[in-house]
Amino acid sequence: MRRTTTVLRPGDIGRPQPAIGRLASEGGFAGAVVDAGCGTGENALHVASLGLSVLLGFDVAETALAIARQKAADRGIEVEFATADAFHLERLGRRFQTVLDCGLFHTFDGSERAEYVASLASVTEHDGTLYVLCFSDDGPDTGPHPVSQEELRTAFKPSNGWNLGTIKPDRIQTRYNEDGAPAWFATIKRI
Ligand SMILES: C[S@@+](CC[C@H](N)C(=O)[O-])C[C@H]1O[C@@H](n2cnc3c(N)ncnc32)[C@H](O)[C@@H]1O
Repeated sequence: MRRTTTVLRPGDIGRPQPAIGRLASEGGFAGAVVDAGCGTGENALHVASLGLSVLLGFDVAETALAIARQKAADRGIEVEFATADAFHLERLGRRFQTVLDCGLFHTFDGSERAEYVASLASVTEHDGTLYVLCFSDDGPDTGPHPVSQEELRTAFKPSNGWNLGTIKPDRIQTRYNEDGAPAWFATIKRI
């Protein structure tokens, strides 16, 4: 299992990312929802607070998961936070209708991306929706590991089991910059 340190990373802003809040208010989450690389849980907790029935946040970082579980208890919100490796999601033995990736895809390099995308496909219902919010290469002031639209299209294509619907410019807020860094918000359907 690959591990990364998580707590108080730049994207750990103590509230949901505005793009995810907006998506939730527009009804973008349906059915069983999973938050991939949930960190300390703000996005998952926000989605769960809307009353969706099955919600799982997973991460490899135990410290982040412990914080997420404590927040859920403090706020009286029911979310399952579990340890899982994004490269081996088939081990979960579950499928989800909506998959959220907020800041995970962009941490992986080329070969890891292919492995991750296949792993995601193994837990996403056919016709399910995957949302990816990642740092974009469309500067100025790009975040770390910026991703191009072309890289998204290469990763998520019909031969891999995905139809990339839209890629829209957005922002990812950080602890150091309220305005955040440029991001892509991609909506992708599982074939
Ligand atoms: C940039 S943070 C984003 C956290 C959260 N989604 C957010 O928006 O605040 C990326 C998260 O992915 C987790 N991560 C990295 N590699 C992972 C892997 N192989 N499996 C599961 N989670 C992983 C990290 O521990 C970290 O919490």
